[in-house]
Amino acid sequence: MPAISASAPGKVILFGEHAVVYGQPAIAVPVNQVRARAIVSARPDRPRGWVSLQAPDIGLESSLEELPADNPLSLAISGVFKATNISRIPAMVIRITSTIPIAAGLGSGAAVSVAIIRALSEFLGQPLPDEQVSILAYEVEKLHHGTPSGIDNTVITYEKPVYYVRTPEGEAGQVDRFNVAKPFTILIGDSGVPSPTAVTVGDVRSAWQEKGILYERLFASTGAIVNQARGAIENGDIAALGPLMDENQDLLVKMGVSSAELDHLVRAARQAGAYGAKLSGGGRGGNMIALVPRETAEQIADALISAGATNTIVTEVKN
Ligand code: PMV
Repeated sequence: MPAISASAPGKVILFGEHAVVYGQPAIAVPVNQVRARAIVSARPDRPRGWVSLQAPDIGLESSLEELPADNPLSLAISGVFKATNISRIPAMVIRITSTIPIAAGLGSGAAVSVAIIRALSEFLGQPLPDEQVSILAYEVEKLHHGTPSGIDNTVITYEKPVYYVRTPEGEAGQVDRFNVAKPFTILIGDSGVPSPTAVTVGDVRSAWQEKGILYERLFASTGAIVNQARGAIENGDIAALGPLMDENQDLLVKMGVSSAELDHLVRAARQAGAYGAKLSGGGRGGNMIALVPRETAEQIADALISAGATNTIVTEVKN
């Protein structure tokens, strides 16, 4: 049996993080410059059911048996075994590698899940359709934080820009793929501060429970910005997107999920010529994004590095 390999991209949220958990829309796009990959190889020299995992990036080498059931990798694998209903599992090694920074808002967890689910289901002779890949990856996302909106697994599975609305039940939400009338350039800057999404999502939830109406308003204003941004992208009105990013950032600051480092990078990007900038993902650390002219993207990236960013990625948003 030949080895089977599958990969999945990173992602950034362009507009609407946090409010999306409360039913507002959000827009996310794939980031193809970074990817997670899973390679499944048969081990006919081992007994049936023997499954070994290698993830050198995180120093993991273990049999599936030895991993706790609530380990994300083990949950992705057992999800595929259940979905494919395989009774005799061939012995195999699953090797996972990724260039997506961890806990940085780039969707590394969901990308690893999607890569495993695709490679393993194909290895077992039953490649799963995208919809099921996304649902299984969503189940794993629930481990990372209790109330994921489902936007990460969706954009990473479909590898297209998505406009996403969570369903009230919180299961796989409603996805609209929309037209990007004119490609545009996004610069991603890493603050270098790891920030688990579970913490910021939990803090926003507590604040929402305490301050109700104030947070409801912040979420509703965010949703209105997301809808304007969708219209601008569909009409190729890129000039409108910069100010919308800035407005979204103001609301994220009010939600309490920015940080001194992120504010500093957002300011540095604007000063260096970005049309607009905001944090992206859970916040408090991780990445920020800026809408930049393609010709000066590298120059603005250098300005971010001088301002303390540990890494930058330039990516083109297109259909
Ligand atoms: O930090 P990330 O990229 O996983 O994004 C989190 C986005 C939130 O809206 C804060 C949470 C969610 O589940 O959508």
